[in-house]
Amino acid sequence: MRKKTYLAALLFTLLAPLAGCGGGSDSSAGPGEAPHALRCGNGVCEFGEFCAVCPQDCDCTTPAATPPMGWNSWNRFGCEIDERLARETADAMEASGMRDAGYVYLNLDDCWQVSRAEDGTIVADPERFAGGMKALADYVHAKGLKFGLYTCAGTETCQGRPGSAGYEYIDARTYASWGVDYIKVDWCNTEGMSPRRQYRIMQEAIERSGRPMVYSICNWGRDYPHIWGPYTGNLWRTSGDIADEFLRMLYNFYFAEQLSAFAGPGHWNDPDMLEVGNGGMTNEEYRAHFSLWAILAAPLIAGNDLRSMTEETRQILMNTEVIAVDQDPWGLPGVRISRGLAAVWARPVAKEGARAVVLFNPFWFPKEMSVEWSSLGLASDRAAVRDLWLHGDLGVFTDRFTATLAPHEARMLLVQGSEHIPARGTTYLSDYPWMYASNAKGEVLRDLAATGTPLTLKGRTYTKGLGAFGSSRILYHLAGSCTRFSADVGVDDSASGTDGTVAFKVFADRVEVFDSGTVRTGMDPLRVDIPVDGADVLELVVETTGDSTYGDHADWADARIVCP
Ligand code: GLA
Repeated sequence: MRKKTYLAALLFTLLAPLAGCGGGSDSSAGPGEAPHALRCGNGVCEFGEFCAVCPQDCDCTTPAATPPMGWNSWNRFGCEIDERLARETADAMEASGMRDAGYVYLNLDDCWQVSRAEDGTIVADPERFAGGMKALADYVHAKGLKFGLYTCAGTETCQGRPGSAGYEYIDARTYASWGVDYIKVDWCNTEGMSPRRQYRIMQEAIERSGRPMVYSICNWGRDYPHIWGPYTGNLWRTSGDIADEFLRMLYNFYFAEQLSAFAGPGHWNDPDMLEVGNGGMTNEEYRAHFSLWAILAAPLIAGNDLRSMTEETRQILMNTEVIAVDQDPWGLPGVRISRGLAAVWARPVAKEGARAVVLFNPFWFPKEMSVEWSSLGLASDRAAVRDLWLHGDLGVFTDRFTATLAPHEARMLLVQGSEHIPARGTTYLSDYPWMYASNAKGEVLRDLAATGTPLTLKGRTYTKGLGAFGSSRILYHLAGSCTRFSADVGVDDSASGTDGTVAFKVFADRVEVFDSGTVRTGMDPLRVDIPVDGADVLELVVETTGDSTYGDHADWADARIVCP
């Protein structure tokens, strides 16, 4: 049954029309400047800097400001876990360089717990964890790592151990007293429970415990966790369990990649933990797995035996250039910029004119693929390309980059071009190319509402503007040359009869400069007219407000910038 569903999902994507790809690359020019150079110290968290590398520059205190990185016991060890494995893994994370590459969470999954004491406190397996969880957490912390534990929202865990239902406050307090930094909460044995409500209880319990903990919602995508998850936890599983199998990895990826609009700093889509190094896929497939997770800004939680990694596995998990994309401080999850199964995903990174790109061939035969600079929202006809797996500059290419990809290969690139610069005067944003746009469904539309109908707010039709859904995020490069942004925002009339509820937010250089509060179907349009003086990047965001996305047709009507 499961297999059938994911084959259907793959087929569906396959049948979507393929985007046209032209040839015409030019690699004759000299190599571009290596766009990825690690350097810390100017107080700004830039591309290539992240907590493990530049704690002085980056936001290292907000839980999950970038996607969590670490290790979890489940994929490789299942229930065969004990404190020796945990300590040896902590040692290996330090010795192998994993910790310094950013993998800081050491998470024990199911089966560490056996019963509850009379007062309800959870009891760790006294044979396998004889030293107790506090001592283990201390050991892990002494290595400069953080400690995570698993529990389940239901009455029992998936392996029949005591669950947290009804014990949320006691459990969160206990974990806090042990020094736990990360909790994964599963969804077995939850008959009659609502995920939305149940996960909120643990959220409150964590808050009351007084210890910040990353909160990982693991309910396999049930009840649309991407909608309420951002208001509840730091990451949520978008589908069922991964397996160490190419098709199953793809299935999880294709689920998550449709949900990029819902994720961002502090709240991430989780296509599940990594299988890299577990032996069921080729190294080519593991590189694809790792590239696809990184372009989506997915959590990177290794699931292999870190004590005995092959050199190839180390090189995949510790590819700092790919990790830098995953951990980019802007936290913009990659979006698909072509159709079909063999497709291209891209995301801007915190470096002007730079885009991370993945071209991926899921087929069992070689495939020629291209990415065009215009589809990346770049202005230049020439751009330098760096291959993040070859660790080398490929040269400067005109208009596009084309390559023939081996079966199951992902090419991961950093493209360095230049950004658009707005013309002087007043410009409608629908006439100006964006750097990035994510949308809950389909594409953001220019001069039409998200539904393809004319932009209409309370009976007034607008000829110009942007039509998006909740959630969505659109970025424009202003080059520091604009003074104002204005628009009429509201839920489009096409949503009449629904309870569309969204919030419009505007950010200038990542600082919030406008928040509409909750805007509903049928409300009068709200006028936004705000200064954006000197901002390089303008970001238009629509949030779902955590309820259903039905009717969330969000119009940025008449959206324009003034750049004198
Ligand atoms: C579920 C989760 C897995 C793992 C197991 C443990 O299947 O989705 O990630 O935690 O339970 O029993």
